[in-house]
Amino acid sequence: MTIRRLPETLVNQIAAGEVVERPAAAVKELVENALDAGARQIDVVLREGGRSFISVTDDGCGMVPEEIELAVERHATSKLPDDDLVHIETLGFRGEALPSIGAVSRLSVTSRAQGSPDAWRLTVEGGLTSSLEPAAAGPGTRIEVRDLFYATPARLKFLKAPRTELSHTEDAMKRLAMAHAEVGFTLSEESRRVLMVTPAQGELFEARLQRLSAIMGREFAENALPIDAEREGLRLTGYIGLPTLNRGNAQQQYLFVNGRPVRDKLLFGAIRGAYQDFLARDRHPLVALFLEVPPDAVDINVHPAKAEVRFRDPGLVRGLIVSAARHALAQAGHRASTSVADAALGALRPETQPQRPVYHWDSSGRITVPRGMAESTAAYHAPLPGVGDAPPTARPGWGEGQAPPNLSRQVPQEDAADDYPLGAARAQVHTTYVVSQTQDGIVIVDQHAAHERLVYETMKAQLDAQGVERQLLLLPEVVELDEASAARLLTRTEELAELGLVIEPFGTGALVVREVPALLGDSDVHGLLQDIADELAELGDALALKERLEAICSSMACHGSVRAGRRLNVEEMNALLRKMEATPHSGQCNHGRPTYVELKLADIERLFGRR
Ligand SMILES: Nc1ncnc2c1ncn2[C@@H]1O[C@H](COP(=O)(O)OP(=O)(O)OP(=O)(O)O)[C@@H](O)[C@H]1O
Ligand SMILES: [Mg+2]
Repeated sequence: MTIRRLPETLVNQIAAGEVVERPAAAVKELVENALDAGARQIDVVLREGGRSFISVTDDGCGMVPEEIELAVERHATSKLPDDDLVHIETLGFRGEALPSIGAVSRLSVTSRAQGSPDAWRLTVEGGLTSSLEPAAAGPGTRIEVRDLFYATPARLKFLKAPRTELSHTEDAMKRLAMAHAEVGFTLSEESRRVLMVTPAQGELFEARLQRLSAIMGREFAENALPIDAEREGLRLTGYIGLPTLNRGNAQQQYLFVNGRPVRDKLLFGAIRGAYQDFLARDRHPLVALFLEVPPDAVDINVHPAKAEVRFRDPGLVRGLIVSAARHALAQAGHRASTSVADAALGALRPETQPQRPVYHWDSSGRITVPRGMAESTAAYHAPLPGVGDAPPTARPGWGEGQAPPNLSRQVPQEDAADDYPLGAARAQVHTTYVVSQTQDGIVIVDQHAAHERLVYETMKAQLDAQGVERQLLLLPEVVELDEASAARLLTRTEELAELGLVIEPFGTGALVVREVPALLGDSDVHGLLQDIADELAELGDALALKERLEAICSSMACHGSVRAGRRLNVEEMNALLRKMEATPHSGQCNHGRPTYVELKLADIERLFGRR
């Protein structure tokens, strides 16, 4: 075999394979060039989803004829003036995009430099460059790409239906538009407008929220919490959605590093970590976060389409995101749960404005007891370990058969517990909800959701203190799983032991469980292990140990919680209410749903037309 140097055209086609994966990638490169050129308005037109035609027109700085000629040459760029790959402040820097696109399509570049009277055009077809010719155009640049991939039929075959390709382009443009609120963008397919955003006005946050609202929808803007945090030269700004506003996938999570849209595992993992207390595993928050880091703290030259980055100090970035998001969420924890209660009230009496429940939460999310009430809740403590005042390490004792046979019995009306924020339990209905009477209203508690939250918070507290209390199984249980799940659990034996779960290998794909967290009681061990294995598979190594432990706690809490359908006696119900009052974040379960709803007497009276 003879080694030879490949012809330039072929080299460019190979590069194009990486840089220009599909029409959306070409549009992204061209729009980035326009942004680098300082454009204030960028208009994109596609035909057949970009397969037959793409044009990107900008009003940026433009190019003089010599620059146009250079621009389509490989490794020609204006963006590395000092040959410095470390301090990159532009979106482009490789000098590859235009020659790559030119190698696989029919490309034309028409440009008029700002301040110059003339425009010039150059065309490149399948890598062959024509000579410059005069053209008629306003200041700025217009790039046209026809018959993308005509020179590489193999790639052409992989293109999807025009509608799919269009949606990829739309997504890519939306991301760039979010990061550059001051620039106007339009995207049209044939003569149909797909996207149009006008330059946003005002200071950074105002302009950005305006742009995010235009792209992610008003609902996001109305339910978003602002983020503005700084640590060691890193600045994080943007907005994160309330947990109660969530989606089935992570597509509405937009992340930017120095104005560049990125899809970075580390960043997604950090968001997951920040929300894991508030959302189920299969629900995802909406966020738009903008990270500004000194150029030398990040390497952007690690991915052909620059969609991923590498941080010099990933832990610092992660910590900044998790703590900023948690801080914002902690401050809004109350709001997250009351917005749901409001909705319930609103639904009950549509003709009037819903009122917010009047509980008070202190900074840790604890519900405060009205002034003048005894600090001790001892009189109302049921002898239920794990729910009442008993050591939190004891079992909750929600075991079957412990509840009295008849639960609909009347509770004495002069029960002083109705002085408490969550009131005195009056009944359990449909073996799912606890109804209690407060001083001026009624509270309906979802018993499973509430108990799950309590078990979770108790486990977390134990974890922070001395490690989770374990309980020896009289008969060690053999659990059969698939091989991967078993292996995944076994690599985490130590962490799991810290959480009170002691496992050992037992042949291929099986484990033997010797101890379980005492709090969980008689839960379904097989289901628990499978859930944890799934959790681990999904989290990977993206999360820090502590967050991984918390995620697992959350799975465990779900297994150890009193199910809907379990009968509770009055003492158990009251114990649940008292414990909820004393536990941070008890207003919502681990899946972002509310644990209780309160209706004020005044609201109920209005419902019946008494007021
Ligand atoms: N819309 C535009 N307006 C003004 N100049 C442009 C425009 N598009 C490209 N150029 C010039 O052409 C050069 C080459 O563009 P190209 O996209 O190929 O490379 P790059 O942007 O420098 O790097 P990268 O390959 O990382 O995108 C740019 O450096 C810039 O000087
Ligand atoms: Mg470029």
